[in-house]
Amino acid sequence: MNTPRCDQTQAWAALRSHYEGDGHQFDLREAFASDPGRFDALVVEAPGMFADLSKNRIDAASMKLLIDLARECQLEKRRDAMLAGAAINTTEDRAVLHTALRAPRGQGPFSDDVHGVLDAMLAYVESVRHTRASGIRHIVNIGIGGSDLGPQMAVPALEAFVHPELGFHFVSNVDGHDITSVLRHLRPAETLFVIASKTFTTQETMANAHAAKAWFVANGGTDTTKHFVATTTNVAAAAEFGIETTFGFWDWVGGRYSLWSAIGLPIALAIGADNFRAMLGGAHEMDRHFATAPLAKNLPVLLGLIDVWYRNFHGFTSRSVAPYHQGLKRLPAYLQQLEMESNGKCVDLDGNALPFATSPVVWGEPGTNGQHAYFQMLHQGTDVIPVEFLLVKHPTHDLADQHTKLLANGLAQAQALMLGKRSSQAMAERAPTAAKSLAPEIVARHRTFPGNRPSTTLLLDRLTPHSLGALIAMYEHRVYTSGALWGINSFDQWGVELGKALCGDLLPRMASGNTEGLDASTAGLMRRLLD
Ligand code: F6P
Repeated sequence: MNTPRCDQTQAWAALRSHYEGDGHQFDLREAFASDPGRFDALVVEAPGMFADLSKNRIDAASMKLLIDLARECQLEKRRDAMLAGAAINTTEDRAVLHTALRAPRGQGPFSDDVHGVLDAMLAYVESVRHTRASGIRHIVNIGIGGSDLGPQMAVPALEAFVHPELGFHFVSNVDGHDITSVLRHLRPAETLFVIASKTFTTQETMANAHAAKAWFVANGGTDTTKHFVATTTNVAAAAEFGIETTFGFWDWVGGRYSLWSAIGLPIALAIGADNFRAMLGGAHEMDRHFATAPLAKNLPVLLGLIDVWYRNFHGFTSRSVAPYHQGLKRLPAYLQQLEMESNGKCVDLDGNALPFATSPVVWGEPGTNGQHAYFQMLHQGTDVIPVEFLLVKHPTHDLADQHTKLLANGLAQAQALMLGKRSSQAMAERAPTAAKSLAPEIVARHRTFPGNRPSTTLLLDRLTPHSLGALIAMYEHRVYTSGALWGINSFDQWGVELGKALCGDLLPRMASGNTEGLDASTAGLMRRLLD
């Protein structure tokens, strides 16, 4: 599709002059002081969530120009092409149809295929969850990247919905410590292994799958057909491995967009068929929002536009995700793959080198833990790092007082980032810990906060399968939005291939000790390792 890249538009030039004019001096404190309607103007309701964008460095002028940018880049046309199943992943000549996986029966492309697998998988799920009959007590998902991070994020997030008699374990790393620490606590007769791999060739997953099978047999396991199941597009390879029960999916499901497919099997085993369908339902509602809401009220579009504004005009290099919900402890890792594998690219769709920056670094930890680790840098460091706070109104525990403290902490951090503390205020404070020899104005400098540090707050009423589905779909579309504006292919991942190929060359060398032709550093390190 021939659509302009962001930097070839009039809006881009207008954004540049706006930024270089008043835009870069924007101050959140002044913006709130001068506009009592700022909060109401910059909140967005979307399925499953309420978003406060008002603590971002945006005003009506920058917002209008960013929406102009989306229009000039023909974002809506690109979005519609993706949703209709055009082969927008051109370097792999594939459609990008994770949205079809959550479309209701009879709607969306490939509906019969999608619902055929889903029905079969959910029937299987219910049979395993009937633990007295199945005898299964532990599920071990063996997969990596997109075949791991989605289930690994969603199962703890939905802990309140998880079958009380089932334990869930995730093995991803080729490092043998990973699988051995899991298997140590298990018994073959009670264990179900899910071998999750789109390709069924990934080195780490295959190594762990073979290790699991060897452990199973060595420890008296008798019926591998009952205790091993595969989720893959490569049914033949799964059969060759000796697996009879396989739930398939298709090449138009990208690995990092695959938790809605058979790759979501551990999630479905954890929360059951109805809840898994509710998760798909929440994602579908977000898809409808993305497809139909006007750009100015379209949450994933607005967040994607702010991401471009920050990355390309403000020059912010990273974004921190702070979920104030312990269940979302793996959300930052999940988002790292979603965003950085999708948008960590340096050429456009036509192969031209990009003259601007793309994916930021995405990172974070659950609140309040992050506050006692790296928030110091967010408040007083030399970099400005936008923070995304995720707050959930109703917890699933009954420790009401702790929940109030949690929410107050999240609100306070966003407030502190924005308000900061002026030096005059710091001067007025007593600083009892400072050395007597230190002049008061020097002490005050250490206790000053620059403020004007942006954040977004996403509020969920409850963390449920439905709202989690909507949340993850929202992030997918947001990543798509910034990728589309940058004119990149957000759906390939050639960047992971070179290391895989070089590892293929080094492996036999590790056995033979042959370092000939290697660079001096790799050769020297290999010699030390083999000594
Ligand atoms: O890390 C690269 C990658 O291709 C990811 O995109 C993918 O999610 C992961 O490897 C696992 O691949 P597979 O599901 O084929 O084992």
